[in-house]
Amino acid sequence: MAQFIKVASTADLAPGDARCVEVEGKKVALFNLDGTFYAIDDTCPHRGGPLSEGELAGDEVTCPWHGAIYNIKTGAALGPPAPHGVACYAVRIQGSDVEVEI
Ligand code: FES
Repeated sequence: MAQFIKVASTADLAPGDARCVEVEGKKVALFNLDGTFYAIDDTCPHRGGPLSEGELAGDEVTCPWHGAIYNIKTGAALGPPAPHGVACYAVRIQGSDVEVEI
């Protein structure tokens, strides 16, 4: 059953920052977009690029390897060569803890 797991503290990511966190063996890209946190799979389904290291523009992240674009709020693929979207995870803030639902 899905559960929320602490992956970071709110102070760990300034607005505009991202980092890869490991949750239950999954690599998840965690983003702080203007104070709201979002989580999607870190691994680009094209060739495995790390989306947490991509450039963030608004709610879109560009894969650093070949430029596929994903929406960080939904995981939807927005630009080639993304073969499909990525999983998106619910995020909640508990005090200063950032928790991801896996
Ligand atoms: S690995 Fe992400 S676009 Fe190729």
